[in-house]
Amino acid sequence: MEKLLSLFEEYLLNNLPNSKTFHPHFEDALSDMLKAGGKRFRPMLLLSVVKSNKSLLIPNSLPIALGLEFLHTYSLVHDDLPAMDNADLRRGFQTLHKKYDEVTAILVGDALNTHAFNLLANASLSNDIKIELVKCLSSNGGIDGMIIGQAIDCFFENQKLELNQLEFLHIHKTAKLIAASLKMGAIICEYDLNTQEKLYNFGIDLGLLFQIQDDIIDETCTSQEAGKTTQNDTSKNSFVNLLGLTGAIKSADELALKCANILNTFDENLKLSLEELLLKYINRHK
Ligand code: IPE
Ligand code: IPE
Ligand code: MG
Ligand code: MG
Ligand code: MG
Repeated sequence: MEKLLSLFEEYLLNNLPNSKTFHPHFEDALSDMLKAGGKRFRPMLLLSVVKSNKSLLIPNSLPIALGLEFLHTYSLVHDDLPAMDNADLRRGFQTLHKKYDEVTAILVGDALNTHAFNLLANASLSNDIKIELVKCLSSNGGIDGMIIGQAIDCFFENQKLELNQLEFLHIHKTAKLIAASLKMGAIICEYDLNTQEKLYNFGIDLGLLFQIQDDIIDETCTSQEAGKTTQNDTSKNSFVNLLGLTGAIKSADELALKCANILNTFDENLKLSLEELLLKYINRHK
């Protein structure tokens, strides 16, 4: 696992957007948030699936993993904007609109989003596979996924949603991109459609768990501990606000158990490969 992560980090550093124009800071801003770190959860999910049965394809999958991280990082840059969550700290550093200005943060987000698909298109994989990858990332990270989730998250601030609406919000905002990360790994491996779907559905549960844990972090951690602005969900339909902290922890416990059980049903290679990455995440709220 450590080896996969360092391979990814090295690839990222060598493939940061590197054009240099006469703009005084745009190119620096473009790479700031990528270099700042983060858990790299989504690329590691993808690479772990690839490792489970086509480890020879790991080098060819690095641009796809990086594309996922670009799209996710764009979502964070925009999520922190004053019009959205208005946060000053991200990945241990000042957010881009604070360090530079809003125009820069908006355009960096736009550029990371677009470039994600450029990375996919240029990967050394068959065109058929790349088209499936583009479909998967664009729908789960776009209109049918993260975007509608973010739109609902922001529109319904200070308006309490029903539990089923809350699930819809968090499945779209967070779980679908996590599910897509697993499915994209399965597409690269050419796993059969059943396995692809099983991985995707597992990713929805895992992603929901990830967001409940994130809501718990917002409530219980300092900004310094989390590396991002916390106590920032007061007007949100977060799991903590709807269920209370104890209720959210209980809900995370139940989902963690469900995820661990599903993990046990995957074939041995897939199970071992994912288990190595996931055990610490499944229990991270404890
Ligand atoms: C934060 O994502 C936003 C959510 C969808 C919960 P991560 O917790 O994966 O953020 P980084 O990538 O580690 O910074
Ligand atoms: C953001 O959820 C999900 C995204 C699509 C970026 P949050 O707003 O809870 O993420 P954090 O807590 O700011 O990282
Ligand atoms: Mg948000
Ligand atoms: Mg936020
Ligand atoms: Mg949060």
